[in-house]
Amino acid sequence: MARIGASVYTSHVPAIGAAMDLGKTHEPYWQKVFSGYEFSRQWMKQHVPDVIFLVYNDHATSFSLEVIPTFAIGTAAEFAVADEGWGPRPVPKVIGHPELASHIAQSVIQDDFDLTIVNKMDVDHGLTVPLSLLFGPVDAWPCRVIPFAVNVVQYPVPSGRRCFMLGQAIRRAIESFDEPLNVQVWGTGGMSHQLQGPRAGLINKAWDNRFLDRLIADPAGLAQVPHIEYVREAGSEGIELVMWLIARGAMSDVAAGAGATPPKVAHRFYHVPASNTAVGHLILEN
Ligand code: DHB
Ligand code: FE
Repeated sequence: MARIGASVYTSHVPAIGAAMDLGKTHEPYWQKVFSGYEFSRQWMKQHVPDVIFLVYNDHATSFSLEVIPTFAIGTAAEFAVADEGWGPRPVPKVIGHPELASHIAQSVIQDDFDLTIVNKMDVDHGLTVPLSLLFGPVDAWPCRVIPFAVNVVQYPVPSGRRCFMLGQAIRRAIESFDEPLNVQVWGTGGMSHQLQGPRAGLINKAWDNRFLDRLIADPAGLAQVPHIEYVREAGSEGIELVMWLIARGAMSDVAAGAGATPPKVAHRFYHVPASNTAVGHLILEN
């Protein structure tokens, strides 16, 4: 059977991708950001999975405001790279895993979560920046990736509670796939940031770090936090953090229930600023 070895969490700031693509990573400003991923790139070399189930949000790149799926699973064989702002990044195309993705869709939908099945979609910085941060510049991504897009752009967006429950259903789905695949579940986006309006530039270090503490040790409690708290405390784009609860819900201690030992924290990093965003990053091992 397939199993989930670890979960990885990271912000997805587009300027981080541009810094890599334009050769600026050694500038002092960016060095402080990338230093937090040096351990992670070594760790990834030892822990390359067969498949990454990558939870991210599309930024009106693949889904316009005409069609807005709440949860969309990419079932295609491959996904082209596209973006807003700086345009498509010069990074490899993403190779999917249609068999596992279809199995997850089957299992999760039968488990009462309504997913949109997407047989063709482009992926933007929400997906490619986390891959670049963890793998560095590469000619081909070292594993397959199932893109899982969550609407955190246009309200109403899903609650943290629903995301956490969905993560648990995704775990059941992965563990019932009849091939010995090593899978990682990644939760991306965040941390605190607001790109628009009078509060543009908002960062909340104390709230972010408490989010990291609770994500590790009290995810079920954290899942009860309502939208309004994310928006008030972490800014309008801080709501991207609900996606981290999908990955956290897929960890084995959640399946084991109350009293289970929390996952091993292989790495934790927090830094301000990167563009308009606080960068947070965790690696949790099952
Ligand atoms: C920035 C952050 C985001 O999450 C995003 O999608 C676009 C821009 C920023 O910090 O500039
Ligand atoms: Fe974003």
